[in-house]
Amino acid sequence: MKFKTTPYHHDLLKDTDRLAVFFEAIKEYDSNNDLAYDLGCGSGVLSYFLSSKFKEVISIESDVKAFGCAKENLSHFDNVKVINNDVLEYNFEKKADLIVCEMLDTALIDEEEIPVLNYAKKFLNEDGKIIPQGIINTIGLVNMQRHHIHWDEGAKYEALSDETVYSDVNFLDDINPEFNANIRLKAKKDGLLNGLKITTYTKINENIIAGPLPMLNPPLLVPLDEKQIRVNDFIDVEIKYIMGNGIESIETKYL
Ligand SMILES: C[S@@+](CC[C@H](N)C(=O)[O-])C[C@H]1O[C@@H](n2cnc3c(N)ncnc32)[C@H](O)[C@@H]1O
Repeated sequence: MKFKTTPYHHDLLKDTDRLAVFFEAIKEYDSNNDLAYDLGCGSGVLSYFLSSKFKEVISIESDVKAFGCAKENLSHFDNVKVINNDVLEYNFEKKADLIVCEMLDTALIDEEEIPVLNYAKKFLNEDGKIIPQGIINTIGLVNMQRHHIHWDEGAKYEALSDETVYSDVNFLDDINPEFNANIRLKAKKDGLLNGLKITTYTKINENIIAGPLPMLNPPLLVPLDEKQIRVNDFIDVEIKYIMGNGIESIETKYL
């Protein structure tokens, strides 16, 4: 089947490893389930996977062009309803067995996954599930070339410490979007420290964890004031951000 897409949603479809992890998680459902929501359905590809497993799929997309593509792509499925709306303004009428919500971004900072799920999961049955089910974030010291916040898309950086897990988010929990942590990191070599690298691992379900992929949470590089460090030094940093408020909300400082 050929999918109609926008250029951005085409890039999402081209990342076949990203699609494969969602396909595998949805494939585990038998075909006796009642209702699934696909929040931020984009081109509709995940709704397409859901359509054979659920009696009803409600797919919501705020971007008008992507909505148009999804509506056309899914027009052959009587059990899929595509709605052009901001999820945060949508009046949910019934509870679902599954919510699929791929509004992911590294550490959930730049997209609306957390505000959307905090609102929408009230419309999940008691034993209902969310795909993905959560994320694990790690952080490490780096020397980076570019001195502004950017995703790892080829610009060079050198790791000056190992990665340390600093947060583990389960989407079924109520999540405070305002994040703040004090973290101690140990230098593994001498070097000029000028940044932090945040890496996000996505828990798609109980059995599948996806590492960073080009279109699924590529690592994020965040500047720090320059500091010469020596092997085995302990570096204490504070990191703050608001999930859903964009990368401009990130603040870092030495403690
Ligand atoms: C990362 S894309 C994923 C698209 C599709 N689910 C897929 O996996 O290919 C996230 C989508 O969520 C949509 N989106 C973001 N915030 C939204 C909101 N508040 N309400 C509805 N859609 C939203 C975006 O327009 C985008 O199409």
